[in-house]
Amino acid sequence: MNKNLKTNGTLTEAETGGSPFWDALDRLAAEHRVVIDRPRGTPHPRFPSMIYPLDYGYLEGTGAVDGGGVDVWVGSAPERKLDAIALTVDLNKGDIELKLLLGTSETEKETILQFLNSGSMHAVLYRRGAAELDFLRSRRSVRRFLPRPVPREILERILETATWSPSAHNRQPWRFVVLTGRESRQRLADEMGAEFRRDLAADGLTEAEIDTQVERAQQRLMEAPAVVLLCLDTAVGDHYPDARRQQAELIMGIQGVAMAGQTLLLAAHACGLGGVWICAPLFAPDAVRRALDIPVEWSPQGLVFLGYPESIPAPRRRRDLSEIVRFDEA
Ligand SMILES: Cc1cc2nc3c(=O)[nH]c(=O)nc-3n(C[C@H](O)[C@H](O)[C@H](O)COP(=O)(O)O)c2cc1C
Repeated sequence: MNKNLKTNGTLTEAETGGSPFWDALDRLAAEHRVVIDRPRGTPHPRFPSMIYPLDYGYLEGTGAVDGGGVDVWVGSAPERKLDAIALTVDLNKGDIELKLLLGTSETEKETILQFLNSGSMHAVLYRRGAAELDFLRSRRSVRRFLPRPVPREILERILETATWSPSAHNRQPWRFVVLTGRESRQRLADEMGAEFRRDLAADGLTEAEIDTQVERAQQRLMEAPAVVLLCLDTAVGDHYPDARRQQAELIMGIQGVAMAGQTLLLAAHACGLGGVWICAPLFAPDAVRRALDIPVEWSPQGLVFLGYPESIPAPRRRRDLSEIVRFDEA
């Protein structure tokens, strides 16, 4: 295996052989006219349910394995800079293709990746330039999903990647319960819903308001294609005779699970999935235990909803570094 190939399918510019590779592609794109024969919003000629999410075409006078020109996707940026390449394998056609992405935003790249990962096709994207940082910044909390299951092998890959998170003493205190069916999820929705209902009543909300909130939360839980319960195994940490160090050990464990949660969300993002962390289990740990019959030493920390995004939300504002960082350089 190529040692430069990262597990998230991303190569940096340096790793792809430095700029000569991208320079050559730049020249190819500059020297051949882009012909858009499948404009955004039009159906695929053979699979009419597939609608091109962006302009798609080819470079006139170039050659590719399918006998046509080199395929290109064109994004909305005014400058058609080559910013990524997509590699696809089509098991029906039995071929491998390369597509150039010109002037695409991060959201557009995700949209293209999603489009190329449908039917018999599978694709990875190699971003140009500061790939890792752009990639890390492009994760969003996705709360609306397409009604499409997430294959078990993708879930396993994401979870295995999450296990590469750091943890105190490398104890790996994270535990995962993956829910993809309806039955256990319905039990979870019922048990957590009852607890949520009690909390909202104690807050003084009206019956109608409580119904709306509980039903919405339950619906989201039932509709997510895959749900991962993140737990802390409280049995694996060190044990201390004093409360101060015991509390620190507990926090360390929780921090480890949170690390795994973030890696899981990023791994999902790398696989073209979206996800969101839901904090509800923290407020209803016993309801979760009852519904899912988890060991008593597993402490529920959160749910991660996963699925193929219906759309990618706009980025939420981040605080400026000047508000949150203090450099002490003395
Ligand atoms: C510990 C934690 C708990 C969260 N709980 C919820 C939740 O219960 N419901 C929800 O919709 N989003 C939840 N989120 C997602 C945040 O709302 C989201 O990360 C934040 O608004 C920033 O948006 P972004 O992730 O798209 O950048 C949670 C995130 C974290 C880290």
